Amino acid sequence: MRIVFKIGGSIICPRGVPDINYVKKLSKFLLEIKRKNDIIIVVGGGKMTKDYIRSTRTLNPSESLLDSMGILGARMNAMVVMASLGKHAYPKIVKNKEELEHGIFTRKVVVMGGTVPGQTTNAVAVAAAQFFRANLIIIGTDVKGVYDKDPRKYKSAKMIKNIKTQDLYRMVKVKKHVAGPLIVMDQVAARLLEKTKIRAILLDGRNLENMKKAISCKGFTGTSIE
Ligand code: UTP
Repeated sequence: MRIVFKIGGSIICPRGVPDINYVKKLSKFLLEIKRKNDIIIVVGGGKMTKDYIRSTRTLNPSESLLDSMGILGARMNAMVVMASLGKHAYPKIVKNKEELEHGIFTRKVVVMGGTVPGQTTNAVAVAAAQFFRANLIIIGTDVKGVYDKDPRKYKSAKMIKNIKTQDLYRMVKVKKHVAGPLIVMDQVAARLLEKTKIRAILLDGRNLENMKKAISCKGFTGTSIE
């Protein structure tokens, strides 16, 4: 199977510094998965990036400058994962299709962060999955799945177990893209998912046992997006 893993910056760098213990467990897990599958890893920006964006926004820069900060922050986190994968990793953070093609060719583990402004790393993951002709995208974040409202704000929020890509797109399209906020999926990613029809599962990326179950589609907790 070809799998693209999107690992949220929110779990790589939950409190402004990388969680090295988690990163070590994650890379061990990913290398185990790689024995029987081809994989690509995309890493998100996390708290530090969001803090940079929030404080720099007070200076009234363009949204694209703030997005660029997000892109760089995600690449920093990607470097942490790359370091932990050691010799198994393609030795540079992949930034575009040409580099992705070369990375895949080497059969090393490709690690990506952000690419272009106006989206999130979920969109990077879906675009990479399309290029890679992946069968599955695993989106690991710090909530258990897609909720009907923000579970960090509303206790009554309910997790959705299965959602059609059209419905997900309808859910997120009302929100205009702004750099940095914690949204479960951006419009670009949702649109691409709808177009590519690649199966995606959004789950809590801190629970690696559960992630393993999701890969084999056996009794996992998370949201299946099809
Ligand atoms: P993400 O929102 O993808 O980070 O990127 P994240 O930490 O993974 O989010 P969680 O953990 O899944 O919730 C951070 C910001 O970087 C910019 C956007 O502003 C985005 O909100 N970005 C990222 C881009 O503009 N382009 C990219 O390709 C990636």
